[in-house]
Amino acid sequence: MCGIVAYIGNKEAYSIIVKGLKRLEYRGYDSSGIALLNTEGLNTYKKQGKVANLEAFTEDKDRSGYAGIGHTRWATHGPPNDTNAHPHTSEDGNITLVHNGIIENYDSIRKELEGKGYTFKSDTDTEVLCYLISDIKTKTGVKLGKAIHLALQQVVGAYAIVVMSKDEPNKIIVARKSSPLVVGIGKDNDFYVASDATPIVEYTKQVVYLNDDEIAILNRDKGMKLFNIDEVQKEPYVEELELHLEELEKGGYEHFMLKEIHEQPRSIKDCFRGRLNAEEAWVSLGGIKEYEQKMIKANRIIMIACGTSWHAGLVGEYLFEDLARINVEVEYASEFRYRNPIINENDIVIAISQSGETADTMAALELAKSKGATILGVCNVVGSSISRITDAGSYTHAGPEIGVASTKAFTAQVTVLTLMALSLAKLKGTICETKFRTMLSELEAIPQKVQQILDKNDEIKLIAEQYQGASNALYLGRGSSFPVALEGALKLKEISYIHAEGYPAAEMKHGPIALIDEEMPVFVIATSGPSYEKVVSNIQEVKARKGKLIAVVTEGDQQVHDIADHTIDIPDTDEHLVPLLATIPFQLLSYHIAVMRNCNVDQPRNLAKSVTVE
Ligand code: F6R
Repeated sequence: MCGIVAYIGNKEAYSIIVKGLKRLEYRGYDSSGIALLNTEGLNTYKKQGKVANLEAFTEDKDRSGYAGIGHTRWATHGPPNDTNAHPHTSEDGNITLVHNGIIENYDSIRKELEGKGYTFKSDTDTEVLCYLISDIKTKTGVKLGKAIHLALQQVVGAYAIVVMSKDEPNKIIVARKSSPLVVGIGKDNDFYVASDATPIVEYTKQVVYLNDDEIAILNRDKGMKLFNIDEVQKEPYVEELELHLEELEKGGYEHFMLKEIHEQPRSIKDCFRGRLNAEEAWVSLGGIKEYEQKMIKANRIIMIACGTSWHAGLVGEYLFEDLARINVEVEYASEFRYRNPIINENDIVIAISQSGETADTMAALELAKSKGATILGVCNVVGSSISRITDAGSYTHAGPEIGVASTKAFTAQVTVLTLMALSLAKLKGTICETKFRTMLSELEAIPQKVQQILDKNDEIKLIAEQYQGASNALYLGRGSSFPVALEGALKLKEISYIHAEGYPAAEMKHGPIALIDEEMPVFVIATSGPSYEKVVSNIQEVKARKGKLIAVVTEGDQQVHDIADHTIDIPDTDEHLVPLLATIPFQLLSYHIAVMRNCNVDQPRNLAKSVTVE
């Protein structure tokens, strides 16, 4: 949600910042802007729409500058237009600022500043913060760093900011609270700043992740100085990035989403690499090892997440309960945090998050921690805020996910939760040796089975062609396939804008069946397993109402094949692992339908990849 890129040093800032903004566009793409500082002064350019619009707009402008700050926006306060785009500049034109987050008390600060005679140009909370810093600086005569520090003490909310001033031209100043910010350290006092490491990796692998309430001064003569909230100087903790540039490119695919769907055989393998050995019959998640005893004795485990990650949590619930016999509850982070939940030190809370930055998930975790619960994380982005505040956790190792619709992160989350469930079941003695060994071998075979489904891409595309004009769709599944139905519906609606609902197959009779007619595609997971016959009955109910039926079935199935309009075969596997396979055809169907409807697959309207506001 909003992306920040900034640079100061010996190179030309413009191209570094614009390239970086394009990498961060998945965080917001309703407007963008850049401010550049050169020996003549400050130039600011802002444009509604994608970064490409900004690039076109600045073609004939002065783009020189050794320092600059850039921003790609996902609107919170004020509509997306040129004026509301960042950077925002103080009334006297000296200070300019980009911001990710929300200043909650901006209205009262704004009124106070208006009372002092200031006139605001935009509707944003960011401009208010910029004016506040400027007001403090001019009234007290302090340096920029001190003014920022004093201003932030008045601010309630979340922020990652980068500030630049004409008066102190050799520095940019960054600060963070609840919104991520990374500083890349180049050679000879070259500094790169961004909301995540993707714009930085091309230039340096040495990074410092800012912690909450830290302010850093990046000076092109004097280097980096880091301070805490009490203005006490700290030693920056420099980390080595593990990210590779090629992971951030489309690699010949038309869209990131398609690339990421096709990466799943590899990403699932990377997820269990070194964590499972079927031949030697062991599974081990190093990150949570010391918490496993606590987990099997826990009162209950609460999984908190949003969106697709919440669906992965629902699959996790089936796995943990069935295999390890541990009581699990799965909660939307946004509901959990405001419900005054009953939590104590016997509870374990697991946050599931691809980005590791989702504001509601972070806040829910902080609440659980304050009530004494042990907090664990299942995150994809290494070094993300959630992975840093949790007591322990397991990374999903799916690699960067750039397409806004989550695909490979989901299967990696389910893989980690499967490994956790198996490890806990073994420790607790709730799984017999034969079942344990079979499940490990089946899990090891999943990447190759995913590949078999991906090889059916052309067949799936033909089915997509027939339903590209649908206005509504229903997704049905039972047991651990119910979250797959939810996820299938979410994928379709978010990228193709077709209204879709996921339902437990048996619940259809309690309402949604009224929607079924010959226009309505119904996608069903009807794989072999204990509920197969029940799902077949549900399928008959759909067909009796002339619904169009597209079923995901186990290879060799005849019964559903004879009734359904279309079937997509997936390889046989252990019933606990079906979600890892059954979700793949739905990802491909949604992708192709969205492309056929000319939708922007990688950057669907109104969405942002990393939801850092509540
Ligand atoms: C859907 C999607 C979102 C995210 C949700 C949580 O395709 O990507 O629903 O799953 O915003 O994000 P994370 O996992 O980063 O916490």
